[in-house]
Amino acid sequence: MSEKRLGTALQTVEWREGRLVLIDQNALPHRLTYITYTDWQDVVEAIRTMVVRGAPAIGCTAALGMALGAQYSPPFATSDAFLAHLERMAQAFRSARPTAVNLFWAVDRVLAVARAASDSVEHIRQAVLEEALRMLEEDLQINRRLGYHGAQLLPQHASVLTHCNAGALATVGYGTALGVVRAAVELGKTVEVYADETRPRLQGMKLTAWELAQDSIPVTIITDNMAAVLMREGKIDCVIVGADRIAANGDTANKIGTYGLAVLAHYHRVPFYVAAPVSTFDLRLPSGDLIPIEQRDPQEVTHIQGNRIAPEGVPVLNPAFDVTPAELIQAFITEIGVLQPPFDTLHERLIGASSHH
Ligand code: MRU
Repeated sequence: MSEKRLGTALQTVEWREGRLVLIDQNALPHRLTYITYTDWQDVVEAIRTMVVRGAPAIGCTAALGMALGAQYSPPFATSDAFLAHLERMAQAFRSARPTAVNLFWAVDRVLAVARAASDSVEHIRQAVLEEALRMLEEDLQINRRLGYHGAQLLPQHASVLTHCNAGALATVGYGTALGVVRAAVELGKTVEVYADETRPRLQGMKLTAWELAQDSIPVTIITDNMAAVLMREGKIDCVIVGADRIAANGDTANKIGTYGLAVLAHYHRVPFYVAAPVSTFDLRLPSGDLIPIEQRDPQEVTHIQGNRIAPEGVPVLNPAFDVTPAELIQAFITEIGVLQPPFDTLHERLIGASSHH
């Protein structure tokens, strides 16, 4: 590895002096500001309003949000009453956004340690905070491992197309799809990135382009409808995206527009990779048509910075995610390695690997 340590400057979610601190992603790229939270209900709202977004980041935020709620809860006479309070918090976090399975995984993990520590309220509080902090630390390590595995797939000079933001800002730090880019640069490869702007919320333009520029990684913003022509011109070596939920057969939910990119990549014979931690696989769902897709406010489509640009009275569709069929995916880049087809054995490979960790 070279001397470069990239992606270390940004920590999307952290615990500072007994408070939960988030980068305000709605203020980027104009201002890098942090919001400090003392009330867990405001953290639920932060996930809903996308102050924090990206599957691993919202999972870790929910875990730490529950720890925050546990630290500052009203007094409870019994651990059972305290556990019931934690269950209510968990339910509020689960209802914040429906698609990213990491949110549900994180909340369940916190509840499991709370139940195991149920001999006293104080013991539960401490166990919940320790578990949430462990999850933040693990996320960083997972992304570095995943990035290293993915970097092996890139040629010495690589041009990568990505969609939305699967970077440091979508995780605790370093990123998944952008973690692969960072790791390749750390290994001495030259990588240039094309960032789809990603309508309607523009995470690609506002967040991906911004965070890569912070690390001086060459990035060019394109509109979502330019990908086909760039592929035709041979300018893209591979597509790397993140994921919000991956079904047991490999069907993958990610930001709306990902499916279209996968179809284009298939036609142009450009490899299409999904970079995601094992926690993004939902092995209980046999296929992608069972993944719940979040529908968001039509105003995200009809308005730009508060100004209506669409005619009044015309219906609008605004699904936040789509599902890419497994057959369009060349490989999953995970912390346990690069998983190639056939994907009908994903279950065994993932369960086998996690039992060794
Ligand atoms: O609606 P968002 O911004 O939360 O959507 C984010 C994505 O679609 C990311 O690609 C996904 O969560 C993976 S992040 C490592």
